[in-house]
Amino acid sequence: MKEAMAFQGLDEQIEDVRLLSRRGFLSKMTAAAAATGLMPNLVQAKQSAKPIAGKATAPDNDSFWNHVADQFLIRPGVSYMNTGTRGPSPRIVYQAQIDSIQQANTDRLSYASYVYNAEFKDAVRAKLSDFVGCKSSEIALTNNTTEGMVVGTFGPDLKPGDEIIYANHDHSSGGQPINLRCARQGTIPVMVDLSSAKFHPPKDPSVIIDAYEQAITRRTKMISLCHVNYTDGCVLPIREICDLARSRGILTLVDGAHPPGMMDLDISSLGCDMYAGACHKWMLAGQLTGFFYVRESMLDRIWPSNYSGPVKGMNLYGKPHSEPYLGRSRTAQKYEMHGSTNYSLGITINAALDFHNQIGREAIESRDRYLMERVRSGLQNIPGVTIFSSEDPRLCAGLISFRIEGVKPKLLSETLWQRHRIYIRHVTHDEINWDANRASMHIMVTTRQADDLVAAVEEVAKEHSV
Ligand SMILES: Cc1ncc(COP(=O)(O)O)c(C=O)c1O
Repeated sequence: MKEAMAFQGLDEQIEDVRLLSRRGFLSKMTAAAAATGLMPNLVQAKQSAKPIAGKATAPDNDSFWNHVADQFLIRPGVSYMNTGTRGPSPRIVYQAQIDSIQQANTDRLSYASYVYNAEFKDAVRAKLSDFVGCKSSEIALTNNTTEGMVVGTFGPDLKPGDEIIYANHDHSSGGQPINLRCARQGTIPVMVDLSSAKFHPPKDPSVIIDAYEQAITRRTKMISLCHVNYTDGCVLPIREICDLARSRGILTLVDGAHPPGMMDLDISSLGCDMYAGACHKWMLAGQLTGFFYVRESMLDRIWPSNYSGPVKGMNLYGKPHSEPYLGRSRTAQKYEMHGSTNYSLGITINAALDFHNQIGREAIESRDRYLMERVRSGLQNIPGVTIFSSEDPRLCAGLISFRIEGVKPKLLSETLWQRHRIYIRHVTHDEINWDANRASMHIMVTTRQADDLVAAVEEVAKEHSV
């Protein structure tokens, strides 16, 4: 309650966005590119939706990235550094959502027939699968990461006594479905203990791989693991752990709440069986958007849970189900066959993908890493600050996790907000001796704001030094 009050007032001064359009974004981006002498690339991006190329998007090109940051509705004076919890949408995404709500309410029949129809959803799935690196038949649109983690945890047939591995730095969205399945069906939860200091940061990826390997027994049937930890921001060696699992006939389910939109993701190269992702965090789509991936060869083995589609090819009356649902139920679309959806949310996924694709996935990942590195190297010079994020690029990306000795992380978050309107968060789990601050470095953050964060932390650290 106290914390909610400390952050109140964020929405008070949102400007009138009704006048801002996609063209507005493009002309601003054009101006930014013109300033860098790279107009032709931008014009091409506008026409063909290819990413802006070359030096324009270099991670330290502030004139370009300031224009990107300008696309957000975030109140002037606020430094928003909690994309890991929720990514605010840029204007064109927000405006697309508003337009969609308006159109669906003024003429729903035409809207559903001509705009938000099956072809549109197929196109969104195709664009999304291209963005995250899989086939469109392998991806379902979901409400959030948690939904995918639940379907993935309950999806495979398991027997009582079969073991499911997870870790104590997982999010409850990954861990609690496992505990629920185990409580209900007699499968056994096996928790990897990542609480030791040797994991924050790990010396190299093998430290983590070994921890997972040691938890495997001949009864292990599934490993559920985070791609990026929400606690310390560590990027786990997913490929290696999935290869290890596959070599022992063990299924893998990856919690991908953070990488989509933060990293240049290629799910098929990770070698996992299932991957649950968010679109409403680093991808910047509307709130309540996500996806669930199942590897094509695994689709028959992963049952849907929340479901009203064809069952063994039959309809409610025991007769062969009609097309197109029958065919669609053989793809990952079976995981989204559960009643009405909110049209405007699918529209925001499409708009957010356009926004990202125009800038380019690689460019965005480089920018996030650049900001994270800048903050990390600033913080490491401050006496009393401990950094939990790795320097090894294989083990880090856009999240920076740290703590000031003698300062409760909750107090630091509140102080930064009250004094400087810098919004970071703290993650506290006494059970695993974890209490740290976490800042998300994404494209709404300017270089100046990243530097301001370092200065503000230094100010608090000095006040508490003995
Ligand atoms: C690692 C991780 N997994 C899952 C979640 C839950 O995500 P969602 O709200 O998309 O269900 C979060 C949320 O912050 C998270 O950090």
